[in-house]
Amino acid sequence: MRTIMLMNSKGGCGKTILATNIATWFAGEGNKVVLADFDPQGSALDWLVARQDYLDIPNIVGINAVTEGIQPAKGAEYLIMDMPAGIHGKKVDAILRRVQTLIIPVIPSLIDIRAYSRFIHELLVTRQVSRHHTRIAVVANRVSENTIIYQQLEKFLNSLNIPFLTSLRESQNYIRSAEQGLGIFEMAPLSVYRDLLQWDPIIEWLDSKNSLPTPLKKKAVKNGGYSSAYILVKMKFYCLGHYNAYFTYAVRIRGRSTYQRG
Ligand SMILES: Nc1ncnc2c1ncn2[C@@H]1O[C@H](COP(=O)(O)OP(=O)(O)O)[C@@H](O)[C@H]1O
Ligand SMILES: [Mg+2]
Repeated sequence: MRTIMLMNSKGGCGKTILATNIATWFAGEGNKVVLADFDPQGSALDWLVARQDYLDIPNIVGINAVTEGIQPAKGAEYLIMDMPAGIHGKKVDAILRRVQTLIIPVIPSLIDIRAYSRFIHELLVTRQVSRHHTRIAVVANRVSENTIIYQQLEKFLNSLNIPFLTSLRESQNYIRSAEQGLGIFEMAPLSVYRDLLQWDPIIEWLDSKNSLPTPLKKKAVKNGGYSSAYILVKMKFYCLGHYNAYFTYAVRIRGRSTYQRG
């Protein structure tokens, strides 16, 4: 079973938004997805309740990990874990033992950058989370580009020893997706195409071997997990400057049909 966790010691940085959207992506791909809510506030479970209003929407099974622990149903292919704020120290070790992939969402805020820095340092240095154990990446969230604070955050994230996947803009689409029990992949592509493009690197990373721990002694993945054909296609788009082609590709691939309330 593929295990993906959203964690940060700070609240309000997008753990639940990322967890629910990642869950919809994999559920929409036809996988059996379990969303485990570790936060007593239960926002991910609330989102699942809102989701019950839709007909024929891909099913996501919810688990209240606070009261029930995690015992995903048999046959679960993806376990997405949404963590609460304020997790530190030895608790992190116990949790990370079960996790292949950890995504840390961060928002541009001067005070928070110091907290992220401590949290990531703790993960990498004190707790010694290695690539053989759990793969870690960061995602900037609620971003308004061209602001000084975003530029500082970007500089900080680029200086880390872990992948900085993408920046997600501040957008009402996420607020709507949270309220409506949908993922942005399930909303009208014309309204969310800018967000879909920003999500592309997250999906690519999660689909690649780069987001899975490398067992010790095994050879490194050739080409960093991308096939040559894939790289050629990417280069072609890049070299020809076919922004439009890439745009259509992203919307077509990532966007799905919308769902009607029953
Ligand atoms: N990119 C975004 N644009 C606009 N609002 C966002 C974005 N990401 C998150 N939010 C909103 O910010 C709030 C906190 O996000 P949430 O995912 O619940 O954070 P966390 O789980 O880390 O506490 C929620 O109300 C959510 O809808
Ligand atoms: Mg949350």
